[in-house]
Amino acid sequence: MSLRVLVMLFLAFVVQSMPDLCTFRGYITALEGEPYHLRCCLSTDHYQRNHIVRWSKRYGPHRTVAVNSSDRIIFNDDAIEFWPIKMTDKGTYSCAVGNQENKWNIIVTKRSEHDCFHPDYLITKEVEVAKSLSINCTHDYYQKEAYNISLFKDCSPVPGNHKTYILKNAVMNDTGNYTCIFFLYKNGRSFNVTKTFSVKIKDTQEIISTLYGNSINYVEAELGKEKILNCTALLMDSADIIYWDKEPNNATNIIIDKKKSIPSGSSGKLYVSNLLKIKPVKEENLNIWYNCTLMTARNSETIRFFLKKKEGPADVSRHIFIIVLVSSAAIIFLVIMCIIYRVDIMLCYRDLIRRDETLTAIIDDVDSLIKKSRRLIIVLSENYMSDKVRYELESGLHEALVERKIKIILIEFTPISNFTFLPQSLKLLKSHRILKWKADKSLPYNSRFWKNLRYLMPAKTAKSIIFSSDSLGNESLPGLSKL
Ligand SMILES: *[C@@H]1O[C@H](CO)[C@@H](O)[C@H](O)[C@H]1NC(C)=O
Ligand SMILES: *[C@@H]1O[C@H](CO)[C@@H](O)[C@H](O)[C@H]1NC(C)=O
Ligand SMILES: *[C@@H]1O[C@H](CO)[C@@H](O)[C@H](O)[C@H]1NC(C)=O
Repeated sequence: MSLRVLVMLFLAFVVQSMPDLCTFRGYITALEGEPYHLRCCLSTDHYQRNHIVRWSKRYGPHRTVAVNSSDRIIFNDDAIEFWPIKMTDKGTYSCAVGNQENKWNIIVTKRSEHDCFHPDYLITKEVEVAKSLSINCTHDYYQKEAYNISLFKDCSPVPGNHKTYILKNAVMNDTGNYTCIFFLYKNGRSFNVTKTFSVKIKDTQEIISTLYGNSINYVEAELGKEKILNCTALLMDSADIIYWDKEPNNATNIIIDKKKSIPSGSSGKLYVSNLLKIKPVKEENLNIWYNCTLMTARNSETIRFFLKKKEGPADVSRHIFIIVLVSSAAIIFLVIMCIIYRVDIMLCYRDLIRRDETLTAIIDDVDSLIKKSRRLIIVLSENYMSDKVRYELESGLHEALVERKIKIILIEFTPISNFTFLPQSLKLLKSHRILKWKADKSLPYNSRFWKNLRYLMPAKTAKSIIFSSDSLGNESLPGLSKL
């Protein structure tokens, strides 16, 4: 590498880095007990080979004393270093190169006893929420000398293994004081230099006061119940106000309940709620707009509530009406169907319960038929004898023997002595009224048996006296059909 290139590089380094390294500010605050330095800012053409920087401290308007180096005050190139700076070091300092001079007024403040930083000694940093927040512990003078660097937030170590930087998207909780501590070692003693950033996270959403909720609200209210309309705002300025448009004085059932609260971690901000309470809701409170307005120096905003009647009990009665209507229609339909299909339904019903009504009807039939009859024909047979027959026999006998309305014809199919159960009265019967069936002999139509029978029957024209099974069984005497 040629010498010319080396010179060029050196110049470039000086020009670029000089504004950062030297101290231009006229008034400087230093913390007592920390290492401190000043660097002379004289223009580049004075940085010649073998230039001499002279440091002096002024005591009053006319007295200037040259600063001598010691264990504590060290000249390092064109800088003066204090290891550490003391309260007595305050005052006006100047550096001179040739005729040129820089001046500073140094103020030394005591360290805070409770905090790792001093509130007057802060570098402010404002970051919008969700934007990148970057804190890096670098020192343009002591960085290289530091044997250790630590990062503290509000004087507690930042989580993470010896972290000396933070790079993240800002959240509201990131607000705080971040202190970088550079640990140094000089002449057998330990020192530390602090650098504190006061970080503020701004919530862009909350820059102006705002009302919560939709601007138009249709709300239902039930008559006789309480209704609360909630108008809440976040106020950024205590001069901002919210109010209900027409705060009704005459209505005794409406009150405005005002509440305030301070959101955590924010100064000047205020949550304000104006609750409009209607208790109880009356007819005249319905179908009206209720307007709540936020008024600030810059803007105004209104949210509106329209109170609708809630269909409460009226709704229920309508439902009941519909249910009654539907069920009565169903009942009418069922009745009509029953009338149309009554026969089918009855037969089906009988099949289901298997009841035999003929058993009880039969006694009345026997009685009326017996009363209509003029002859009682008794056929004595072993094959057929039941309670029904016995009843018919006894009531017939009663008519014949007691009432004397019916005449009895007894046909002996089997000899009478076998029938021990027969009523005694039957034995009193006149012998000509007893006809004996003599098997094959009685079978022909012109046999004695049939002639005797015809004789005992009431007189009628020959045509109708036919002892067919039809006339005897099915029409005239259904109860005796099986005889
Ligand atoms: C930094 O130095 C001061 C003064 O020497 C001392 O009181 C303080 O404890 C030191 N801080 C830390 C974190 O070591
Ligand atoms: C009113 O609305 C605010 C914002 O939505 C809410 O925080 C508050 O709890 C509400 N108050 C009542 C009484 O409902
Ligand atoms: C609320 O606002 C509506 C719409 O602007 C208006 O018609 C109504 O009169 C207002 N109500 C009150 C009580 O001021």
